[in-house]
Amino acid sequence: MIKKCLFPAAGYGTRFLPATKAMPKEMLPVVNKPLIQYGVEEALDAGLNEISIVTGRGKRALEDHFDISYELENQIKGTDKEKYLVGIRRLLSECSFSYTRQTEMKGLGHAILTGRPLIGDEPFAVVLADDLCVNLEGDGVLTQMVKLYNQYRCTIIAIQEVDPAETNKYGVIAGDLIGDDLYRVRNMVEKPAPEDAPSNLAIIGRYILTPDIFELIKQTEPGKGGEIQITDALMKQAQNGCVIAYKFKGKRFDCGGAEGYIEATNFCFENFYKTGKAY
Ligand code: UTP
Repeated sequence: MIKKCLFPAAGYGTRFLPATKAMPKEMLPVVNKPLIQYGVEEALDAGLNEISIVTGRGKRALEDHFDISYELENQIKGTDKEKYLVGIRRLLSECSFSYTRQTEMKGLGHAILTGRPLIGDEPFAVVLADDLCVNLEGDGVLTQMVKLYNQYRCTIIAIQEVDPAETNKYGVIAGDLIGDDLYRVRNMVEKPAPEDAPSNLAIIGRYILTPDIFELIKQTEPGKGGEIQITDALMKQAQNGCVIAYKFKGKRFDCGGAEGYIEATNFCFENFYKTGKAY
């Protein structure tokens, strides 16, 4: 059973400057809720209630968000504003939260390795909170992936088809179709130029990783951009054993940039806020 979910949240969020200068990107509100809260809700819905967050300098607001604010509780007790806190109270009562700091931002692979002491030797999920994933039709994306992990018992990565001109923003896979929307990964390239991309199947911010990934990350040299890339470690895992890529059901918004963030805001306003499901 997977219980742990790691949120690498130490990045600088440069695409969203100046908003992210003194505030974590993961705390950007989509309508009324910070990005990270959507991610933790998705994890809890998938049965993952041990939440680990890799933070960095200037990210204290993340810890304060997943804590009780006694002054606030006292202030709104018994008023109709209590409804605003129902969702966050549920997370606080049903999840545990642990934190570690990445002191040098050496990339996503390095951030995941930094989380190792919080995870230990068990399979775990990874959520990049700036990728907001929703599925109005059924199971959340992590729930879909946990089901697949229980069936295949190997690393599962979420992919989506992207515009071929945009492959240079993603890790891109090539694989053999082994089932509905399922590929066994053969090749993987970090941010390839469109002419070098092995496909238009791009890795997005949801992973289920088996713990052997930690040693593979340790052996990974800095790659594209001088960062330790998770894609390179995953490629080794795919060569040694098995990595499955899953074209998930639902929508994904890249909230690390203005365009996806605005789309997510409009979507959540229509589907959650206006319908009273936003708390
Ligand atoms: P991004 O590639 O989105 O980088 O990282 P970023 O720094 O957050 O944002 P931009 O590109 O400068 O605007 C993907 C995820 O990995 C985390 C980020 O916090 C984000 O959730 N990350 C990245 C780390 O935790 N540490 C790192 O060293 C790099």
